Amino acid sequence: MIKVEHLHKSFGEFKALKDISLEIRDGEIVSLIGPSGSGKSTLLRCIHGLEQADSGTIYLDGEVMDPSNKEKYREQRKKMGFVFQHFNLFNNKTVLENCMLAQITSAGRSEQEAYDISMEYLTRVGMADKADSYPSRLSGGQKQRAAIARALCMNPEMMLFDEPTSALDPEMIKEVLDVMKDLGRQGMTMIVVTHEMGFARKVGSRVVFLEAGEIIEENESEAFFSNPASERARDFLSKVFYD
Ligand SMILES: Nc1ncnc2c1ncn2[C@@H]1O[C@H](COP(=O)(O)OP(=O)(O)O)[C@@H](O)[C@H]1O
Ligand SMILES: [Mg+2]
Repeated sequence: MIKVEHLHKSFGEFKALKDISLEIRDGEIVSLIGPSGSGKSTLLRCIHGLEQADSGTIYLDGEVMDPSNKEKYREQRKKMGFVFQHFNLFNNKTVLENCMLAQITSAGRSEQEAYDISMEYLTRVGMADKADSYPSRLSGGQKQRAAIARALCMNPEMMLFDEPTSALDPEMIKEVLDVMKDLGRQGMTMIVVTHEMGFARKVGSRVVFLEAGEIIEENESEAFFSNPASERARDFLSKVFYD
């Protein structure tokens, strides 16, 4: 579904991504893990087009994503939903309005359609009763579930999550991971930047381990966690698991 070939991205002199190649098949849940500053967000943002790579190619469904082909590029980007660590909801709009907005302005849906679809997804993430609430009235977990519903309203083919639970109080992490797990069960293709190793291991199908802008190791989740091949992945895991 997504193929990344030889992606490079620098910020000034600093090389944030060095020759990243990666393939993600339909229905896979790929966990992107690695130390802080290793380039996880940059990679996700390049895939989604929030950031432009310096060189390399990204294919979506076999077709090149080329920003200079504006019309097509916009359509391709719509196939990907993005969920941020800090929710990025519009605080001056209700949950329902947050969900409806892009459906009307960007997907060309009528108010009624946008309303129906919003309520459908809000119901799915357990947020229908909060449709008329403003984000400031919600817990972090509720905000993130609303943000996931909002992304789903655009009918993406795949979802990109950048540390969706990192800003949450511990007791709210599970409610968000459960929503993501359900999505995965329904066959959604997902790339998840996460420090939730339990989720990566049990829900994720594959792990991509990044360090200093490079893919160090890539493996099926269970194999990665039970027997990491590289010294650096072993070192990372020994730091994140307290025992
Ligand atoms: N817009 C930017 N300008 C300059 N440096 C950046 C920018 N975005 C990220 N970086 C740098 O690139 C590196 C990788 O960042 P990032 O992809 O956010 O890492 P991660 O998500 O793995 O923590 C970091 O050293 C970060 O400081
Ligand atoms: Mg990051």
